[in-house]
Amino acid sequence: GNYAGPLRPQVHFSPPQGFMNDPNGMFRDAEGTYHLYYQYNPTANVAGNQHWGHATSRDLYNWTNQAIAIFPGGPTEGIFSGSAVIDWNNTSGFFPDQNNGVVAIYTVNTPERQTQDIAYSYDNGFSFTKYEKNPVIPSDSTQFRDPKVIWHEPTSRWVMVVAYPIDFEIGIFSSPNLIDWTPESNVSRIGLTGLQYECPNLVEMRVDGGEDGDTHWVLLISINPGAPLGGSITEYFIGDFNGTHFVPLDATTRFTDFAKDNYAGQFFYGIGADQDQISINWASNWQYTNDVPTAGKEIGDGFRSAMSVARGHYLKELPRQGLALISYPLDIVSVVESELARNDSLGNSTVFVDYSNVQSGALYFEANITGLTDSASLQGAINFKFLSSASGESISGGTYVSGDVWLDRGRTNGFSNPYFNDKFSQAGIYREELGEWRISGIIDRSIIEIFLNDGELSASSVFFPNSPLDMMVLTVSGINETAIANVGVWSLRAVWE
Ligand code: FRU
Repeated sequence: GNYAGPLRPQVHFSPPQGFMNDPNGMFRDAEGTYHLYYQYNPTANVAGNQHWGHATSRDLYNWTNQAIAIFPGGPTEGIFSGSAVIDWNNTSGFFPDQNNGVVAIYTVNTPERQTQDIAYSYDNGFSFTKYEKNPVIPSDSTQFRDPKVIWHEPTSRWVMVVAYPIDFEIGIFSSPNLIDWTPESNVSRIGLTGLQYECPNLVEMRVDGGEDGDTHWVLLISINPGAPLGGSITEYFIGDFNGTHFVPLDATTRFTDFAKDNYAGQFFYGIGADQDQISINWASNWQYTNDVPTAGKEIGDGFRSAMSVARGHYLKELPRQGLALISYPLDIVSVVESELARNDSLGNSTVFVDYSNVQSGALYFEANITGLTDSASLQGAINFKFLSSASGESISGGTYVSGDVWLDRGRTNGFSNPYFNDKFSQAGIYREELGEWRISGIIDRSIIEIFLNDGELSASSVFFPNSPLDMMVLTVSGINETAIANVGVWSLRAVWE
């Protein structure tokens, strides 16, 4: 793959060539290497011909592309989305001589049906053998897919969540051995249904500020099409899970992200709820993913789609919204290269950064305001803009201290598409009692991710300028005199050669 192109992300994962969609099979192996598989069409720059592409990383930023891990069995078959687990105790019987066997659980798609199949790996997930007696969950339906399997310690069983997309149902199955699966319950018509449910995840998370050891379970469901903003979006529900049934705490529907490019995310297998959970999400949207201008003319010229950076997650009680999923860029400091600008007492003022010399074209920035004292500070705002000095194209965004946050990708000209909405915004979450307000973000050639108050809200958006963005303007305005703004802008190291 050629990772040098002007729209190629430098700290985000993208496939060497061809088309990528959902992250699949994410697990950390016994030696600490992270494995990312993904829906992959190696033969065209549009969706189809689904394989499991594969990449590995020690730090979730520097990825090594690996050989394709799972191939379709014939021309009309697709290896659709799914998950992977480590079968430490050889519950499956595939691994008499090792305790680090890997089992992939995925959907086989044919024109006749979608079934759940498995494949096992003796070599840490680099090569897989399909189980001789597949499928492990047969079906006559063309709408039954995306199994995500976890180990449920209290019941000592494997648990699968899997979508019945057009029935708006998530099936919960259990198994002692990854082969024999028993249906336990269904979660039906929860939240916004869209046209179909896809890619469920069920994950236990710690509650920040709760009692020691307090956890809840989060059920995430991707819906497509039918998102309020159009196309694809991910919603989540917080509740409890006893090994067979998921019961939401309330009927609130919440979204993982407030822009349009965060879909079909998956959580790494095997991370305990005493740690922050880790997800990677497909940074695109089915509305326009097959048309974005990163493909080049021939297969091999280009690529389509990037993943979000790895995100850390936990739950936190927010005074106005109640419990919410926190989502922050994991270990972003590990790819910080050098400080381009820093001011620890900016006040109401502006910082300009010319980053035309930054080879990666990728930046991380933060603006933190503390000491907001009076209601006048609710007029305060933090705004940022990334510009192309050559063309004047720009991406901008910002947040009012009163709580609103927005992102505008409509001023870049490299892609015109009726569904490529220009501007996103999300209303009010200010917490007066704290007197502080923060925004941070990562911009990486053709993708931006922003985070409010260390991840109480996030947005992921792709954009396609005709000429590279190379100037940043960061402005703080309207805050009270005793408030302190500190801002920093750093270049990021290109992780691709
Ligand atoms: C979600 C999805 C999944 C399916 C896969 C096919 O984006 O539609 O439901 O398994 O993509 O590539």
